Amino acid sequence: MNEYLPGLEGVPATRSNISCIDGEEGLLTYRGYAIEQLAEHSNFEETTLLLLDGELPGAHELEVFDQQVRRNRRVKYNIRELMKNLPSSGHPMEMLQTAMASLGLFYPASDCLTGPEFCEDLDYVHNMTVKIIARMPVLVTMWAHLRRGYDPIEPRYDLSYAENLLYMFNGEEPDPLLADIMDKCLILHAEHTINASTFAALVAGSTLTSPYGVMAAAIGTLSGPLHGGANQRVVAMLDAIGSPNHVESWLDERLEKKEKIWGFGHREYKVKDPRAIILQGLMEKLAREKGGDVSPVFETAQALEKAAAERLGEKGVYPNVDFYSGILYSEMGIPVDQFTSLFAVARSAGWLAHWREQLSDNRIFRPTQVYTGEPVRDYVPMDRR
Ligand code: COA
Repeated sequence: MNEYLPGLEGVPATRSNISCIDGEEGLLTYRGYAIEQLAEHSNFEETTLLLLDGELPGAHELEVFDQQVRRNRRVKYNIRELMKNLPSSGHPMEMLQTAMASLGLFYPASDCLTGPEFCEDLDYVHNMTVKIIARMPVLVTMWAHLRRGYDPIEPRYDLSYAENLLYMFNGEEPDPLLADIMDKCLILHAEHTINASTFAALVAGSTLTSPYGVMAAAIGTLSGPLHGGANQRVVAMLDAIGSPNHVESWLDERLEKKEKIWGFGHREYKVKDPRAIILQGLMEKLAREKGGDVSPVFETAQALEKAAAERLGEKGVYPNVDFYSGILYSEMGIPVDQFTSLFAVARSAGWLAHWREQLSDNRIFRPTQVYTGEPVRDYVPMDRR
């Protein structure tokens, strides 16, 4: 194929049996299971194992995995020392990428990654997977405290993944409703076929670099505003709009200037992202439980969705996962600039599932290009330029 397709739109870059999107119907499945059913019935630990291994685990298998993840929650104190030396004004995603890459210094890559073809040391692959998934929330929440000059909150081993994540953020006994919502958010963000950050993970993984190198590449890619960084910008955008009454004029002006609306549009979906529908429902549930008070930001968001549908619907531009997630996290008391790192915590499951799939049938990614530069020419000495 010599045709250049910007953004590789429609170009299959891999074969995968991990997840599937039907962008016309608004369907997302993990290993064949609809995201709606997983969000309703599963939990993050079980969904992670489903993504990694391909099947819903039995009770014993899930218990073993859950215990392994709980036991790996602590990180070496050198990581804390490293973080103390990072600028406190740094973005949490930059910290996360730095800290993740640094973990590779403590856990050297196995010989299995130095072979030419694929890694047969499944114990190494599994152990690294557990360590990374277990430590993602620890790194994120440690930084939330250290950057404000406080000691981090030690992880607890009696709490589920979602509960412990909330606990490490604020040191309080996790509220069951908020923990349930966080668990569902983790499930919804865990995997999404070959998006930009997963592609970055695959490219890195195909070179047989360490899983920490794979994760650092993925985290850096997720942080961009066109990808996971959009959720933080959604909340800033809604704050700038100010109220539902300002939505129409704000939107017209923005579209007139050909600027993007954060949290809208998707390469694959031509209808509303199914994850946005679930997140919106969770936001409504939270508002009901709080006594019916809907935050002004949520009202502005709903007005924006309606106005945008009239103007952008014909292009198939509707809310994506980032539109309602940020609003929800805000209501849950998560600091705005931590939203994308929560996305990364969840997506670590999907990235590692793809890393494992890549290793099982690896060939280095090395695409070609359409050269648009000068033809071969002679070097020009300095005095003749
Ligand atoms: N606001 C306004 N218009 C948008 C839009 C948005 N958020 N997203 C897409 N469009 C329009 C484009 O202007 C373009 O219109 P045109 O054909 O008249 O030029 C058309 O829809 C196709 O958009 P394009 O940018 O080519 O789509 P893409 O597949 O390359 O990009 C995104 C996908 C996600 C990067 C893009 O929709 C976007 O930038 N969204 C905002 C950032 C965001 O929320 N990212 C999170 C994704 S989960």
